[in-house]
Amino acid sequence: MTSELPGSPVLKVEGVSLAFGGVRALSKVSLEAAEGTITAIIGPNGAGKTSLFNAISGFYRPAEGRILFEGRDISRLRPPARAKLGLARTFQNIALFRGMTVLDNIKLGRHAHLRTNVLDALFYWGRAQREELALRQEIEERIIDFLEIQHIRRAPVGALPYGLQKRVELARALAMRPKILMLDEPVAGMNREETEDMARFILDVKEEWGVTILMVEHDMGMVMDISDHVIVLNFGQVIAQGRPAEVQRDPAVVSAYLGSGDVGELSRRLHARQAA
Ligand SMILES: Nc1ncnc2c1ncn2[C@@H]1O[C@H](COP(=O)(O)OP(=O)(O)OP(=O)(O)O)[C@@H](O)[C@H]1O
Ligand SMILES: [Mg+2]
Repeated sequence: MTSELPGSPVLKVEGVSLAFGGVRALSKVSLEAAEGTITAIIGPNGAGKTSLFNAISGFYRPAEGRILFEGRDISRLRPPARAKLGLARTFQNIALFRGMTVLDNIKLGRHAHLRTNVLDALFYWGRAQREELALRQEIEERIIDFLEIQHIRRAPVGALPYGLQKRVELARALAMRPKILMLDEPVAGMNREETEDMARFILDVKEEWGVTILMVEHDMGMVMDISDHVIVLNFGQVIAQGRPAEVQRDPAVVSAYLGSGDVGELSRRLHARQAA
């Protein structure tokens, strides 16, 4: 299935293939993410979703294909360079410093953009101080308020409930001031209320901050509610894409889930939503 992208592409993946030994995790995957939209990547367990994220953010080097960001080929850039250009992400398993406070974890995100190096700090300590101050203000006023985590800013991350930890991870990614935010299963393991909160924050990040979102997620209800464009991976290949309503009706998508063993919840939800 093909369908028009809802805007101009800010990210392009062109014919990317990736293998681990004998396992072909990605086979000639091509896709585009339109600026200022939410693109969801769905597919059964092991379909290659996280591998695709790792290829885009530079943790894995594809055997073939290219990644273009704002028209520029970034395939050879290392992960920190891609982050600096504006590609930020969260991980499928929370990757925060559990012993550090919420605030300190968020500050780490901003490091990708601090201009000041050691020499600068020696000669222009004034600027360094101003940057530190500006950094703190920006973090406190915008991100923390925005994500409604004022009350836990001094709390060690490890002591927080899971849903809040995921929100702190989002905060840290936002502190990098990304153009593209990549979220790997942002609501996995969350209860309904936490899921709804996170979905609202993701929508707000798109609408209020104009950030392009690329999201891997198994929660079909959430995907169908907030995505502009849905791309379906199965066995490392794109098998369908389009608007949420189109993808839900696609027989290839339904059978990919039915055949995956991961069925129950997912297919029931797919069908329930079609019936609704
Ligand atoms: N570092 C790795 N080493 C070896 N094989 C890997 C590695 N990472 C992924 N794979 C394999 O590549 C395939 C795709 O895995 P991937 O983690 O990308 O799937 P996924 O779609 O994210 O699945 P899930 O929904 O379970 O998170 C799987 O067969 C997996 O076992
Ligand atoms: Mg994964």
